[in-house]
Parts: sequence; structure tokens; C-alpha cells
Amino acid sequence: MIVKIVSKNFDIPDSHKLEVALKHGRYESIDKLFTMAPDEVTEEVCKSGLRGKGGGGAHCGPKWKLMPPVDERPRYLIVNGDESEPGTFKDRQIFQYDPHLLIEGIICSSYAIGAHDAFIYIRGEYKWFIDRLNEAIEEAYTAGIIGEKVMNKYDFRMDITVHRGGGAYICGEKSALIESVEGKRGHPRLKPHGKECEWFYDMPATVNNVETISSVPNIVLNGYESYTKYGTEKAPGTMLFAMSGPVKNPGVYELQYGCKMTDVINEIGGGMRDGLTLKAVIPGGASCPILTAEEVEKAYLDYESMWDIGSTLGTGGMMIIPEGTSMVDVAKNLIEFYHHESCGQCTPCREGTGWIDKILKGIIEGVGKEEDLDTILDVCETMNGKTVCVFAPAVKDIIKSIVQKFRDEFIAEIK
Ligand SMILES: Cc1cc2nc3c(=O)[nH]c(=O)nc-3n(C[C@H](O)[C@H](O)[C@H](O)COP(=O)(O)O)c2cc1C
Repeated sequence: MIVKIVSKNFDIPDSHKLEVALKHGRYESIDKLFTMAPDEVTEEVCKSGLRGKGGGGAHCGPKWKLMPPVDERPRYLIVNGDESEPGTFKDRQIFQYDPHLLIEGIICSSYAIGAHDAFIYIRGEYKWFIDRLNEAIEEAYTAGIIGEKVMNKYDFRMDITVHRGGGAYICGEKSALIESVEGKRGHPRLKPHGKECEWFYDMPATVNNVETISSVPNIVLNGYESYTKYGTEKAPGTMLFAMSGPVKNPGVYELQYGCKMTDVINEIGGGMRDGLTLKAVIPGGASCPILTAEEVEKAYLDYESMWDIGSTLGTGGMMIIPEGTSMVDVAKNLIEFYHHESCGQCTPCREGTGWIDKILKGIIEGVGKEEDLDTILDVCETMNGKTVCVFAPAVKDIIKSIVQKFRDEFIAEIK
């Protein structure tokens, strides 16, 4: 199940330092990169089937092709390291253990899309990780790996800037993130009807997750087959899966797509600790429909299989919930977060999260009524598909699934 591509160097002492990174394969893809035309790199990434690891699972290569042909305008790569989704803590592993892999991935990806400036957006609270990344970028500049030329010899300017966010969950949404880097309030933008690239200061831009970009050097160096030999047909390769909750070995594991969830929990996670039994799993960061223990038995870790059982793979951050946990408390805990983090731009989201929070508070304080559960489901529907971004529909997904699948518990609490 475990396949180490992105996490290959994580266990090497001082793997974050350039000197060590160079001894363990970092920047080896760059010589090969510059033997290829930018379109060839994009084509290789398309063939690899690489999918975005930021939650949506969009195909990376086809997304790069949305960039308009190179012209006199500057164009940008923006790397999304906001990682504010509860239960998700994988990109931080890359910042901590292999920041040079990310820099290498940025060089490869920027070359493919014709960008000379890359921004890495990180949630402001992650100061320790930001410092570590900045040290690696500094090392790369000093060694001439980036700057006016790449690797001191390739005539390709590459500049990388780290942008520290203010600590808002919504700034992980790509268009809110761009607004934030542009110095504005992090409000998501209205999306165009057709597919197109992103626009940063009205210039063409691509936004990709940290892990997506870190997956590119292997594909460039070893070819797309080195990636497609793992995973499933529709989701080739690997992903960093985070596992939290009362399992014996919580942590981040790089797994090929398509593993059986119970095998991952029991064999890699070591099973439940302290004699606890599994009650439910929120599979991909907080914003995915919850799975009951019965559904977990049927769950496989790839996008299509998760859709088939009515949930999503999201960021792969599995939150393991044991028997004995109140699902009313789980729902309340999550809605407090969403209520606090709703950016307030769209009424259904701003008001809906607040109403659900208030109703659940009433239930916990003993003034709830059974009809409240239908009101929550009704509010969920008003939040679905009526907002600028998918924050509200995701809140609907998780809250509705908890209330529907554990309704008896809510009724018991009300009584
Ligand atoms: C509320 C919200 C929060 C998000 N947070 C993140 C995040 O922290 N990191 C991330 O990579 N993508 C996040 N996304 C998804 C991004 O909008 C975008 O799809 C992603 O960065 C694209 O990169 P990828 O295709 O490589 O996955 C978020 C989306 C929403 C709606």
C-alpha cells in the first residue's frame, strides 16, 4: 500500500537541507527538464494522469493547458499551501522534510506553463514551516539553483516568493487566495462559465496544491509510466493520506490510490487503540460526507470509489471517530468552525452556518425540538449551489450526512 515518491526523503536526517537533498536526488529532474519543450512536459504530466491533491482532484496536465499561449504578458504559478482544512496536515510534511522537492517541482511546473514567478501561499500561523521553506529558498538562490538562471546554466529566470496568509480558511479557495495575494480581502471570485486559467493581477495564472507540484519532478525524471504503474486507472499514482484520531499509529502516509480504507486503518494505522471500536470516518478533511463504520468497510481510497459510496476523497485527511463520541458534538464542533470561517460574502453561507450553529447549540442546551433536525436539513438545501464558491455546499455535505446518518442520536439528545 505504501509507495514513497513524494515522501521518499522524509525519513533522512536533515533532508530539508540543500546539501543532504542534493545527495538524495533533488534537482536531478532539471537536466532532463531542459531537454524537453514546455509542451512536452505538460504532455507527460497529462499522460501521468496526475490529479490535484488540494481537494478537488482536477487533472493537473489539462489544467496547465488552460493557460493561453505565451505572449508578452507575465504569467504566474501560484502554489497553494494554505492547508487550513481540519484533519489535513500533509503539505506541512513537505515544507518540513523536503522543501527542495517543492522548489524542484516549481521549476518544472513553471517551465511547463511559461511562468518565471511563483508564489507560495501559506497560512500565517504556520510560521515554523514558513521559516523552514524560506531557508530552503534562500539556499536555492545562494547556490544559483533559482534566480536569473536555473542551476546556474539554464537560461530561464525563476523567482519564488512566499506569501504569508492572515489565517483564514477561505483563503485556501484558489480565487480567494489570489485576491489575498493581491492585497485584498480573501473573498472568492465569481467563476466563468467556461473553463479558463486563473487571473492574477489580470495576468494568466495557474493555482496548484503543494503536493501536486511536488509530484511533478518524478514524472519529468522517470516518465509518466513511473507514476501510472501505481494507483487506479482513473487515479494513477499516490497521495499523502493523513490519519488522525484514536488509531495506534496516526500520521501521514503516502499510499497508492485505491487502497481499502479498513486495511489502511488496521494495517498502517495499527487499528483502534485502547480497545475502542470504530464508529465513523470523515474521509478527506472535514468537508466530506461522513462514512459510518459499515460504509467504511466498502470504502476504497480513490476519487471514483468514494463518489460511488456518496462521499469524496478530498484532501485524504481521514478523521477516525470512535464509538462513544457524540455525533451531536461532532456536528457542533464542525459548524462552529464553518460559522467562524464563512467569509460572509454570500448570504446562504453567512446566515446558514450561523443558523445551524444556533440550532445545534439549542439541542445541546436542552431546548431543541425534533423539527429542528428538518430545519437543519432545509437550511442545508438553501446553502447548496447558491453561493460563489463551494464552501457552503461542502458544509451542507458534512452536516447533512451527520444528521441523516446519526438522526437517532440527535433525537436522543433532544429527548
Ligand atoms: C473553502 C476551500 C478551501 C480550500 N483550501 C485549500 C487548501 O488549503 N489547499 C489547497 O491546495 N486547495 C484548497 N482548496 C482547493 C483550491 O480551491 C484549488 O482547487 C486547489 O488549490 C487547486 O490545486 P490542485 O488542482 O493541485 O488540487 C480549497 C477550496 C475551498 C472551496
